[in-house]
Amino acid sequence: MKICFIMYPWDRVNPNQDSSLRIIHECALRGHEVAITHPNNLTIRDSVTLSHCNTIIKEDKVKASVPSFYKSVRFVKKMRPLSEFDVIFMRANPPLDPLVLNFLDSVKDDVFIINAVDGLREANNKIYTAAYHDPERELIPATHVSKNISYLISVIEESEHDKMILKPLDGFGGSGVIVIEKAAMHNIKSLLEFYIERGDKQSNYVILQDYVEGAEDGDVRVLMLHGKPIGALRRRPAKGDARSNISAGGTVEKYTLTKEDKILCKKIGEKLVRDGIYYAGLDLIGGKLIEVNVMSPGTITDINKLNNTKLQVKIVNYLEKVTRKREELKENFRPENL
Ligand SMILES: Nc1ncnc2c1ncn2[C@@H]1O[C@H](COP(=O)(O)OP(=O)(O)O)[C@@H](O)[C@H]1O
Ligand SMILES: [Mg+2]
Repeated sequence: MKICFIMYPWDRVNPNQDSSLRIIHECALRGHEVAITHPNNLTIRDSVTLSHCNTIIKEDKVKASVPSFYKSVRFVKKMRPLSEFDVIFMRANPPLDPLVLNFLDSVKDDVFIINAVDGLREANNKIYTAAYHDPERELIPATHVSKNISYLISVIEESEHDKMILKPLDGFGGSGVIVIEKAAMHNIKSLLEFYIERGDKQSNYVILQDYVEGAEDGDVRVLMLHGKPIGALRRRPAKGDARSNISAGGTVEKYTLTKEDKILCKKIGEKLVRDGIYYAGLDLIGGKLIEVNVMSPGTITDINKLNNTKLQVKIVNYLEKVTRKREELKENFRPENL
């Protein structure tokens, strides 16, 4: 298998923690051809989409420990056409530059891209979950997206709850996520103006969402591979904070999915696969879906440590299976039929 990882800069990888590195290491251990590149390296030359890639030298022995592998791995630098890969794994950090998707559009019939370009395009911000079809309100908390300040104020005033969550539409890592309390309505207009106008020329959408009770005890991160959960953990917010993100100071704990969580994952999983989102990190609170992370969800290393697993083995097994099926079925290959 020839695989290309489009990701954040290699020198910013933390070898003890990084999830992409674990997948890369597993590919290298199995003798696959692994190339690594950054979104800024995408290039078109004479109508061919290429990238300046660092390809791992296959002849070198692959160290068994991930940090030693990171320290010792050697690369060959070369421009490579993206269409020569079997798999492109998008592991760039959010926010997503939509132009990257235009580059990938040009090779999407030649390469298995995880996640599919159209899935990334659709799910790379929080409208994807906000607009989830959920008439019985079983899957997501009541969610509103708007830039209309007076409308948003009326939503808060009319809500039966004392608390709501306000977040920027395109945020990540917990940035800008705050709790709104009805008792402090005199601040709301100024706050909404600040979020929506944010000093930019263009105004920004915000999300208002019912506060899900139980969030004080943290949220649950579930890694979904081809519509099925492969691992999970609980993230607990730092004292005095409403956000469970690890980048916002949250800590991780072992978590076993409940029967209800599994039902929720099944319902969401079917849609993810239909939408071309083969690998994602779900954030769940109190049995409700809060967010689908499609860009570069982490936590593999933490889940591995807490449960003594190697999720990267499952992921690479999956990529090998896709590659075999694509070779066998050629243009009749449909990922949803795997
Ligand atoms: N509706 C909600 N009720 C309670 N807590 C929430 C809610 N939405 C978000 N949070 C808290 O804020 C964190 C970040 O929100 P999330 O929607 O996942 O955005 P981000 O993209 O920044 O991770 C969540 O992990 C959770 O701890
Ligand atoms: Mg999140």
